[in-house]
Amino acid sequence: MDKYTFLQEYNVDRHHTDAIKWDGMEAEFGQSDLIPLWIADTEFALPKAAKKALLNRIEHGAFGYSLTPKSYYDAYFKWQKDRYQIELHQDWMRFGTGVVQSIVNMLQVLTEPDDSVMIMQPVYYPFANVIKNNRRQLVVTALKNDHENYTIDLDDMAQKMESKAVKVLILCSPHNPVGRVWSESELEAVFALCQEKHVRVICDEIHHDLIVGQRPFVSALSIKDGLYRDNLVVLDSPSKTFNMSSLLVSHVIIPNPQIRRKYDQFVLRQALPQGSLLGKVAAEAAYHYGQEWLDGLLEVVKANEQYVREHLLEAYPEIEIAPLEGTYLLWVNLKKVVPEAKLKQVVQQKAHLAVDFGAWFGNGGAGHIRLNLATEPRYVKEAISALICAIDENHSNF
Ligand SMILES: Cc1ncc(COP(=O)(O)O)c(C=O)c1O
Repeated sequence: MDKYTFLQEYNVDRHHTDAIKWDGMEAEFGQSDLIPLWIADTEFALPKAAKKALLNRIEHGAFGYSLTPKSYYDAYFKWQKDRYQIELHQDWMRFGTGVVQSIVNMLQVLTEPDDSVMIMQPVYYPFANVIKNNRRQLVVTALKNDHENYTIDLDDMAQKMESKAVKVLILCSPHNPVGRVWSESELEAVFALCQEKHVRVICDEIHHDLIVGQRPFVSALSIKDGLYRDNLVVLDSPSKTFNMSSLLVSHVIIPNPQIRRKYDQFVLRQALPQGSLLGKVAAEAAYHYGQEWLDGLLEVVKANEQYVREHLLEAYPEIEIAPLEGTYLLWVNLKKVVPEAKLKQVVQQKAHLAVDFGAWFGNGGAGHIRLNLATEPRYVKEAISALICAIDENHSNF
């Protein structure tokens, strides 16, 4: 589907629908008059086939306890196999209500209080929060940054895994916020290191359908024909792809039978929910019929990215923008044009943008902003001209 058809058919107004991005702006930023390019969801309705499946189910009217039908696995497995050559098995699969919730559960299963857990910053900030909130020791390895081209610092990882006795690595693949789609050789190096150092990997692949650059996505499950499968769990979800976070369904993929057994015991002890009926109804239809819809979404994101790049760099060539390989989140380094201390004033108070500020993402994030491009082009255009004016104004007052 081209971007015009996509926007015509799927763009919706989320004001006053209890959308956090719009209706929760005041609570987060203290103002409600900002252009919302923050929290990672989209302004778009899910594929029509998914909405129809939901409506049919709602029409039925009974919502008692339900199981996950075989047709759900078939639809999801086919999607993963056709697009990424990932081979899945039903006995590996468990369900949750969200990827972050599943990370918390996995931390309980794979670690003890005070164990060390490593993350690669800058990274999605709930990783650090859940580690600390669950009384685990946070160990940070910083990504290497060469003018916003990010790579993994294996030496630093190896040294800290050893010195801090790291038990688990939480890997973000593709990586939010720097937009990297890790190559198979990069992943292989990380997984080989983790194997050597006896570090288990929780691999968060929630953004894996959102591939906008040239580099193909490789799942941790597929590296070297599954060589590292026993040492990892993969978490993903239809929620980021199809904009259905509030339908509460995530996948917990555990190839290792021992980890699976421990996880199942944990689920029993905690009486954890296994996703939601309506989430599975919508996702099954989306996996069946959502291919064209996803193409349309990615066209919108690519066009928005191109717009930002052209206009921001034309005004200020010293701004550095990370290549967007995956996710719909653009990572922009404003350090050379806005002093760090004035970033909030320029971006929020002057330009009236609600963005995720880089400092939220930890080590290496300061001076950056993260722009959510899964939105109508008019918001991106307004945001970029407002940002350029705000930087201009700040320069002339300097
Ligand atoms: C890397 C990553 N993991 C997890 C999530 C959130 O997932 P969930 O809403 O399923 O907890 C996000 C949302 O932005 C994310 O970027």
